[in-house]
Amino acid sequence: MAEDRVAAKFAVCPSGALANGQYRKLALVFEGREEECLLLRFDGQVYAYLNRCVHMPRRLDGEVAEIFDETGRYLRCSMHGIVYTPQSGTSVSAMCEGEQLRAVTVYEEDGTVGLADFRVSACR
Ligand code: FES
Repeated sequence: MAEDRVAAKFAVCPSGALANGQYRKLALVFEGREEECLLLRFDGQVYAYLNRCVHMPRRLDGEVAEIFDETGRYLRCSMHGIVYTPQSGTSVSAMCEGEQLRAVTVYEEDGTVGLADFRVSACR
């Protein structure tokens, strides 16, 4: 069963290369499909989400090459402005309130950040 499998680890970068408020974009194969992933650090923790807004199948940074809003406390889709919490990818906007970005499981150990999600079969 999937729950028993150990996810392959895809190392992405040294911990020091992903500071608070920074993000990286990764191309990956998620559930057999080519996707783009956002790997970010917020308040010291690393998070990853598929780069696809809950409102429409658009990239959060499709219009503006940034995913954090001007406060640095939220993620923001540049298309119509939905704001998400970085910790859970949940929309806190009236539009699509409560809907969540698809999270990808991350790890950080021995000074390395990466993905460790059994739904990911390739990452670059
Ligand atoms: S596509 Fe993201 S807010 Fe509309």
